[in-house]
Amino acid sequence: MKKKGLAPGGISWSAWKLHVIVVSLTLTIVVCMLPFLSLHRFSPSHYSQIPSSRRSLHSNWDSITLHEGQPNPKVAFLFLARRHLPLDFVWKCFFQNADTANYSIYIHSEPGFVFNKSTTRTRFFHDRQLKNSIKVGWGEASMIGAERLLLKEALKDSVNTRFVLLSESCIPLYNFSYIYTYLTASPRSFVDSFLDKKERRYNPNMAPYIPMSKWRKGSQWITLIRKHAEVVADDDVVFPVFKMFCKKRYNCIPDEHYVQTLLAVSNQLYT
Ligand SMILES: *[C@@H]1O[C@H](CO)[C@@H](O)[C@H](O)[C@H]1NC(C)=O
Ligand SMILES: *[C@@H]1O[C@H](CO)[C@@H](O)[C@H](O)[C@H]1NC(C)=O
Ligand SMILES: *[C@@H]1O[C@H](CO)[C@@H](O)[C@H](O)[C@H]1NC(C)=O
Repeated sequence: MKKKGLAPGGISWSAWKLHVIVVSLTLTIVVCMLPFLSLHRFSPSHYSQIPSSRRSLHSNWDSITLHEGQPNPKVAFLFLARRHLPLDFVWKCFFQNADTANYSIYIHSEPGFVFNKSTTRTRFFHDRQLKNSIKVGWGEASMIGAERLLLKEALKDSVNTRFVLLSESCIPLYNFSYIYTYLTASPRSFVDSFLDKKERRYNPNMAPYIPMSKWRKGSQWITLIRKHAEVVADDDVVFPVFKMFCKKRYNCIPDEHYVQTLLAVSNQLYT
């Protein structure tokens, strides 16, 4: 997520327009403006590669075959916002051409914030805010806590098969049907994950649960298949460790490490 003022990368907020970055999220189909990230980070080299024998372990939806009478697989759009969604007018155009049976929308915003006619220009966002949203602090574990709440809520709908995490500054680069087909046709998650050569954020106290060799970095903005979304939502090992050790002197900026590291720890990535 974004922070006002100086960000860890030393890029000032005012320069954000210069740093329109294509995030690995869906790589070429959604763009997010993340002012504090540097461009060279986004290499598509480390996708999750699940052996086909393991793909259907937890979910029949990971590789999708359509049968008559079955509901369409849905893409869940999960918005992580500070307050309102300023690019709602872009998303309005995007969802206007979509079949409502093909997607769902969830928003995590400031607790108590209501998406209605007063706060958003599109009905698509009305009443989509999570009831149990939490106060999120930049660079704190509450950020990944909010991501997990979004995933947990979206997993309740068994027809959601792809889970797209978006910031308030993401916009789609293609129309709905293109993105829908692209995501549902792929049996893989899209997660930017790499080893940082200048790594300084790993806290050695995490070692019993998160070995240094599994520590990963990557963009916060991801698309997960259902099986991986379940891994994140059900995680009761790595998340508590981040909460405990990822602060003060060792603040690791959890959102830049959590999902990547968790998937590596649970051997969901070839590393
Ligand atoms: C939107 O929600 C806020 C907070 O509950 C409320 O004060 C406002 O009147 C609502 N606006 C409309 C148009 O319903
Ligand atoms: C969606 O975008 C694709 C690729 O740009 C294009 O081929 C297709 O015609 C578009 N579909 C609609 C319904 O606009
Ligand atoms: C909705 O889903 C069905 C089944 O997956 C698909 O055939 C159709 O093209 C989708 N519609 C759009 C607008 O993407």
